[in-house]
Amino acid sequence: VAPQRIFSGMQPTSDSLHLGNYLGALTQWVALQDGYDPIYCVVDLHALTVNPEPAVLRERTRRTAAQYLAAGVDPSRSLLFVQSHVPEHAQLTWILSCLTGYGEASRMTQFKDKSAKHGNEGTNVGLFTYPILMAADILLYDTALVPVGEDQRQHLELTRDLAQRLNARFGADTVVVPEPYIVKATAKIYDLQEPTAKMSKTASSPNGLVELLDDPKVVAKRIRSAVTDTEREIRFDTAAKPGVSNLLSIYSALSGRTITDLEGSYEGKGYGDLKKDLADVVVAFLEPFQARFHEFLDDPAQLDAVLADGAERAREIAAPVLARVYDRSGL
Ligand code: ADP
Ligand code: NA
Repeated sequence: VAPQRIFSGMQPTSDSLHLGNYLGALTQWVALQDGYDPIYCVVDLHALTVNPEPAVLRERTRRTAAQYLAAGVDPSRSLLFVQSHVPEHAQLTWILSCLTGYGEASRMTQFKDKSAKHGNEGTNVGLFTYPILMAADILLYDTALVPVGEDQRQHLELTRDLAQRLNARFGADTVVVPEPYIVKATAKIYDLQEPTAKMSKTASSPNGLVELLDDPKVVAKRIRSAVTDTEREIRFDTAAKPGVSNLLSIYSALSGRTITDLEGSYEGKGYGDLKKDLADVVVAFLEPFQARFHEFLDDPAQLDAVLADGAERAREIAAPVLARVYDRSGL
């Protein structure tokens, strides 16, 4: 049997990805290169929803691709491309838009949060149809599994509903109905200063965020000043001790040590010890990551070649899927 198709992407909406993106998604992407057929995308059309300066968007798209490569995405085992290089994404979005209920789209919690923040006049329609574009991204590649963080679960549910609707209307094998692939231990990395809110490039305060391209000294300081609680015990308990639990999750994911092992080795020690050691672990990860990132970014010809090859191979997969949907829709 053919290996299962994987699809995932991230928005180029900042100069650097953060630890939540890395642990929630990127590490799974890299792991899934063994035994699966992965496609990883820089979703620049999604990033247009925040109306970036053109030169900034273009630069962030390259930086995001270079961070995928630095994390271990290997173009000989994964297809890596930029969303806007494959026009089929926008084309399928229109068809899916016509199958999505207005009420259904209005119920997306990410849209509700963002539109509440910006108000009706400050909210563009792209933000509203964002999950439909995401559904198109996934369905265009006959995707079986979508590795994402917990925050994308509702969008994935919409993707599945749309896939089932297409199949019900146009024939059972029109598109593949994908499954989310969410690794519980790292599905949600929290803000260091507000450990009940997800770490996020838009919502987190600078001190709550660990960006992969931040100065390691600054990162170490942020970890050492992470919010914990007034107890002394180093114990994993997300309800009672969200700050300590978040630090343990990050520590475990980056070091490969289990939470139980970490709890045992910090018995009788203080939060200061935990934070100091975690700061060392994070810095030991960041330094070589950043060196690899700069190597990829500083070789624009090679980066362009990887992305051009990816776009070509992506279109070879996406075009027949779109043609199938067009044909069955009566277009
Ligand atoms: P952001 O939410 O920071 O704007 P994206 O929407 O581009 O980032 O998300 C890219 C990927 O990173 C998605 O798979 C998302 O689920 C994951 N992700 C984002 N924030 C976190 C987090 N705090 N913990 C775990 N995964 C996350
Ligand atoms: Na997100």
